[in-house]
Amino acid sequence: MNFLELAGKRRSVRFFEDREVDKELILNVLEAGNLAPSAHNKQSWKFYVISGEKKNKLAELIGELSDNFPRKSRTLLRMAGKSIYSAPVVIAVFSTGELVREAEDFGEDMKREIERFFMDMEIQSASAAVQNMLLQATELGLGAVWLGIVNLVAEKIQNFLQTNHKLLAMIPIGYPVRINQSPKKKSLKDVLIEIS
Ligand SMILES: Cc1cc2nc3c(=O)[nH]c(=O)nc-3n(C[C@H](O)[C@H](O)[C@H](O)COP(=O)(O)O)c2cc1C
Repeated sequence: MNFLELAGKRRSVRFFEDREVDKELILNVLEAGNLAPSAHNKQSWKFYVISGEKKNKLAELIGELSDNFPRKSRTLLRMAGKSIYSAPVVIAVFSTGELVREAEDFGEDMKREIERFFMDMEIQSASAAVQNMLLQATELGLGAVWLGIVNLVAEKIQNFLQTNHKLLAMIPIGYPVRINQSPKKKSLKDVLIEIS
């Protein structure tokens, strides 16, 4: 499979077979994440691999918390909880904030602006790690989905996992029950502003 084929083959997979995934494969996926580019080469991400009873409790917590939200977010949060429950393994991706903290070195007049900028950089860096992991999972014949909706309850999840790092996304991983057809995507010409 060349890279474009791999990128095209990746689908969001939300439900999984009741089958364990070898630790070696998960380590492989994590390695791919850790190879991503990062702002200032900080690699200011942390990965938390959750499985078994802890994972199921987390899924329940997200399901319960969904009740506090309006319909659309509630539905997405519930679905996220179900995907987490269904997957044998979930990788939670966090940003450490170590780049954001470097804004301290700037004067008061610029600090806020630089903080926001560094926060953007940390989010972009951790996102690159997430995408690498999704692609590596695909390459290994696994399915996965990028869950961003869990950020609505980030603090509660951080408390549950007892970490101060900032949650970016969760990635349930496992063997797909089925692989959906691609949702309709914009063509390249729809998104290309100019090529000269
Ligand atoms: C930043 C981001 C956040 C996402 N959050 C969720 C989510 O919370 N729940 C979910 O089911 N899918 C989520 N997705 C997956 C998208 O719904 C999916 O990528 C999109 O529908 C295209 O389908 P595909 O991944 O199969 O190409 C997210 C994707 C991205 C990039």
